[in-house]
Amino acid sequence: MKRLLTGLQPSGALHLGNWVGALKPFVELSREYESFLMIVDYHALTTLKEPEALRENILGIAKDYIAAGADPEKSTIFKQSDVPEHTELAWIFQCLVTVPFLQQAHAYKDKVAKGLEANAGLFAYPMLMAADILLYDTDIVPVGQDQRQHIEYAREAAAKFNNTYGELFREPKEHILDSVATVPGTDGQKMSKSYKNTIPLFGTKDEIAKAVMSIITDSKAESPENVYNIHSLFRTRSELSELYKANKGKYQALKGALIEDIEAVVAPMRERRDSISDDDVRRILKEGSERARAIAGSKMNDVRRAIGVTI
Ligand code: TYM
Repeated sequence: MKRLLTGLQPSGALHLGNWVGALKPFVELSREYESFLMIVDYHALTTLKEPEALRENILGIAKDYIAAGADPEKSTIFKQSDVPEHTELAWIFQCLVTVPFLQQAHAYKDKVAKGLEANAGLFAYPMLMAADILLYDTDIVPVGQDQRQHIEYAREAAAKFNNTYGELFREPKEHILDSVATVPGTDGQKMSKSYKNTIPLFGTKDEIAKAVMSIITDSKAESPENVYNIHSLFRTRSELSELYKANKGKYQALKGALIEDIEAVVAPMRERRDSISDDDVRRILKEGSERARAIAGSKMNDVRRAIGVTI
C-alpha cells in the first residue's frame, strides 16, 4: 500500500485554509493509502515560545484532526517530538545541503520579511520537514500551494542523500488541488494565521460570523469577489452564480448565506470535537507515536549504517 503523510503546525487555531488545503484532502485520501498525520510541534517552536499555549494547541489540533474525520484506528496520528528520529535525520540532511540553497526558501524569506526572528530553526525548517516526510518512504503529501517548494526541498534532500550514500530514500510527490491551493483570507490575500485574516475552522458560530462579516468588499463591484472566492469552497459555481445573481449588490445577504454554508459543514465537526477528551488525545498520540517510531527507528538504523556512524 502506498503511503500518505502530512503535518500541521500547532502554532494557533486551524483555519479554513488549513482544512481545505491539507486536512480535508488527507482525510479523503487516507482511505486509499497507509496514512500518517503529524502534529509538527518542533516546527511550531520556530515561532511559538509559550509552553502553555503550545501544550494547549497540541491537544487542540489533535482534536481538530479527529473531528475533521481522521480515524486513529486507520491512520497513524502522532506528535513529531515523540519521534526523535525526525530531528536526528534533519541534522544529517543539514550536513548535505548548502546555506545558499536554504536561503532561497520562499517561506523563510516571507517570514523574515514579515518581521519574524530569523532564528536558525526557521532557517533549517525545510530539512526537518524533509525528515518528517522521508523517514516514512512517503509517496504523496497533501498540502497547500505555499508548501510546494518545501516538498521540492524534500526531494532534493532525498536525492542528495541517495547520491552520497546510496539509494535509501523515496522521492515524495505533493498533492495540491488547484481549487484550494491558496485559500484567500478576509482581506483577499492568502489566508494565514500571521496575516490575521483567518476564518477559524472550529470557532463558535459567532466567531465565524464575525470573521465573515469582516471580509473586505469593493463597494463599486456588483458581486463581492472576496466573499465569492471563499464561498466557492462550499458550493458549486452554478449554485453560486444563481445565488449571486439573485442578490446583486446585497453584500450582507451574501455574507449571511456564506455563514450558513460554513456552519452546515462545521457544526457536526464541532459537535464531534466537543466529545473528545484530553485523555483520549493522549492515548491516541501515544499509540500513534509507538507505530511511527517502529518505522522511523528502523529507517534510522539503515541511515546510520549508510553514513558510517554504526561501527
Ligand atoms: P502549516 O501549519 O503552516 O499549514 C498546514 C497546512 O495548511 C496549508 N495551508 C493552506 N492551504 C490553502 N490555502 C491557505 N490559505 C493555506 N494556509 C495553510 C499549508 O499548505 C499546509 O499544508 N511546513 C508545514 C508543516 C509541515 C509538513 C511536514 C507538512 C511540517 N512537516 C511534512 C507536510 C509534511 C506548514 O507550515 O504547515
